[in-house]
Amino acid sequence: MTPKHLVSLADWSRESVEDVLERSVRIKSEYAKNGASDRLRGKSLAMIFHKPSLRTRVSFEVGMTQMGGAALYISDKEIGMQSRETIEDIARVLSGYVDGVMIRTFANAYVERLAEHASIPIINGLTDLYHPCQLLADLLTIREQRGKIDGTAVAYVGDGNNMAHSWINAAIHYDIDLRIAHPDGYAPEPAIVKAASERGAKVTVTTDPREGVRDVNVVYTDVWASMGQEQEKEQRLKRFEGFQVNQALMNLAADDALFMHCLPAHRGEEVTAEVLEGPRSVVFPEAHNRLHAQKGLLDALLSD
Ligand code: CP
Ligand code: NVA
Repeated sequence: MTPKHLVSLADWSRESVEDVLERSVRIKSEYAKNGASDRLRGKSLAMIFHKPSLRTRVSFEVGMTQMGGAALYISDKEIGMQSRETIEDIARVLSGYVDGVMIRTFANAYVERLAEHASIPIINGLTDLYHPCQLLADLLTIREQRGKIDGTAVAYVGDGNNMAHSWINAAIHYDIDLRIAHPDGYAPEPAIVKAASERGAKVTVTTDPREGVRDVNVVYTDVWASMGQEQEKEQRLKRFEGFQVNQALMNLAADDALFMHCLPAHRGEEVTAEVLEGPRSVVFPEAHNRLHAQKGLLDALLSD
């Protein structure tokens, strides 16, 4: 059974993740054949953004439209979460208006509190801690590109951030040999690694990017300064030197290794233009799969 909310992939079972991926594949092919559907006719999704977005906003909004529903964008200027009104009251009010809420914010605790007090599904559209919706699209992309997810070795090179944590949570459910290669001082949260490892995730953490990528099937990276860390950018650029995904690093991975990135990307920082635009890069199909994965997720959570 699909859980009510998507706060973190760690809360889900493998079966629920697989169900979303199956729906995503089915809805993607139905849309290619028949165009828009009415799976979510009359349903509304509120989208709260405390940080900027291209992919998350557009894919949720267009996803709702293509399935016959509607989405509305709400910025914090309007609702003033915790300043104009408490999270708990917002959760209860929105529960009477819309059929689901997607929220992108800083503190994961905000998403947890919304989920605790709402009677409708709450979807984590990125926090400082997690980005589960991106992982659904990434898993869908790996499945399309490699035919399966189990048995994939993935090197995540860079910051031990929300993306790294989401990969660690994905490794709870799939047979993924996950290596996280990060500079000193930028490790993923040890508690997240420990909890996932105790549930069977195969996660190796290293400060050597060359060791991390050796023979892997997927090389993944993300920006070195995430949203909210802009003031640390100069310092991070120095600390992350040597962690750039360039052709020399890609050459250590398997011959047919894919390059993936959640985007937005900063060419010349975490990845070279050569790799991002190169033959192993699947970053644009990956970005487009945000739409298809979102539709699978919305169908699982919102349809009757
Ligand atoms: N990958 C991703 O979440 O992109 P946006 O920040 O543009 O939504
Ligand atoms: N780690 C990045 C991901 C963007 C999709 C951020 O949080 O800004």
